[in-house]
Amino acid sequence: MKIITTIDELRDQMRGQLRTAFVPTMGNLHEGHLSLMRLARKHGDPVVASIFVNRLQFGPNEDFDKYPRTFQADVEKLEKEGVYVLFAPTEKDLYPEPQEYRVQPPDTLGNTLEGEFRPGFFGGVCTVVTKLFSCVQPRVAVFGKKDYQQLMIVRNMARQFAMPTEIIGAETFRAEDGLALSSRNMYLSPEERAEAPALYQGLNFVANEIRGGHLDIFSVEREAMAQLSARGWKPDYISVRKRIDLQPPSAGDLAQGTPLVVLAAAKLGTTRLIDNLEI
Ligand code: PAF
Repeated sequence: MKIITTIDELRDQMRGQLRTAFVPTMGNLHEGHLSLMRLARKHGDPVVASIFVNRLQFGPNEDFDKYPRTFQADVEKLEKEGVYVLFAPTEKDLYPEPQEYRVQPPDTLGNTLEGEFRPGFFGGVCTVVTKLFSCVQPRVAVFGKKDYQQLMIVRNMARQFAMPTEIIGAETFRAEDGLALSSRNMYLSPEERAEAPALYQGLNFVANEIRGGHLDIFSVEREAMAQLSARGWKPDYISVRKRIDLQPPSAGDLAQGTPLVVLAAAKLGTTRLIDNLEI
């Protein structure tokens, strides 16, 4: 595997590659990321991964400084997966001058759910993904469904800008007890780790209620949030949305069986976890 840090070197290395499959990451790789690499391999060749902790998508009080950086261990994992190039720019390589041009998602999608609780987050994601795509020039790029809203925003962005990159969504990789794998799980104490699957259980509660015909969505969401709060969590949201646009479903949507997804974000101690479940 070649480890490349500069945009110029990456361009030289990738010249003439027309079937590149790309997996952007912020490092601290776990099985979930590796499953993205394997899916990428099915859709293209060579596989290129990136590791870049993108300051633009972190709020001033978020965990940019303490975000886990485990570069050497990440390299070993990617080598085992047969990744061809790891693009790991420094901040100076990727943002040699202040990044004044930004890509913003529309308010309807960018300021709801995660966007409401993490203002500026999706603008930061769209900007760095656009820049990484411009450097790597992939034919396909793989994003995890665990970040459901991010996947949808990136997919819509690629379509609306006619980017020559197909966006592929990968199923969420879960531990045996249901907890979605995430780099932020490593912030959890052993007691919190034991409690953490309750978030996924809450999503299943909502999904089962709705599948069972309980269509007062607001009361189901409230009940699921109350259950989490009673266990010591601080939920930001548990919200049922239409899969097509992540907007709340109307009574008509529910009656017609419009495909839904329930999304959640909640803090356990100081760790904020997100997860979702298609209904
Ligand atoms: O999902 C992530 O790890 C990040 O948001 C991404 C897509 C690598 C952009 O920094």
